[in-house]
Amino acid sequence: MANEENQVQNPPKINAPSVPKPTSLNHEAPMSKPISAPRSSLARPASTFPAINSAQRASGGLAVPGQQSRRKVVLKPGHSPLDWAHLNSSKPKHILRGVPPNTPPPQYVQIPKEELKKHKTQEDCWTCINGRVFNITPYINFHPGGVEEIMKCAGRDGTALFNKYHSWVNADRMLENCMVGIISN
Ligand code: HEM
Repeated sequence: MANEENQVQNPPKINAPSVPKPTSLNHEAPMSKPISAPRSSLARPASTFPAINSAQRASGGLAVPGQQSRRKVVLKPGHSPLDWAHLNSSKPKHILRGVPPNTPPPQYVQIPKEELKKHKTQEDCWTCINGRVFNITPYINFHPGGVEEIMKCAGRDGTALFNKYHSWVNADRMLENCMVGIISN
């Protein structure tokens, strides 16, 4: 007991920076750190919401390890989906189909596979989707997925690729004025 009292009266000297002693007016703890505002119960840590790989995150944001980031294609001015709709209502159909004006309606035109293969350049491009052959030449620069991607189906059956990327897109509707004919063997 006597030893304890001795320790309180003569505390061991420690080589530490001196801290101002509290005075009778300064009875609060010294403010060594700024006090942060209390976090509201609604606040979520920004780093985890939305989750890194959430669909709610805008594309082009943080890269997700192991996941291919979505590449946005910049369309040329005047090549929005609305411009495509306008072109469809203003251009004669045979121009969009790329055929002479007196060509029969597409449902009566048979296209052999050998003929489809001949149209595989950006200036003359056909593809076949679900048995229908389309002249996609006028559409290439309107494609939201980019020229390079759509050219992968040039001169051949593009059904599998088309469905792989966007099975929800209605090609028959979008390219109805570009339909050349029906594929035949
Ligand atoms: C020939 C007919 C095609 C048409 C009419 C077409 C149409 C479209 C449309 C409307 C979109 C926008 C979809 C959306 O925002 O929901 C799109 C995006 C895209 N398309 Fe196509 N497409 C065609 C062929 C292809 C092919 C053959 C490929 C791949 C080889 C392809 C790859 C893509 C990609 C990667 C995107 C971007 C998807 C994204 O932004 O997440 N498309 N296409």
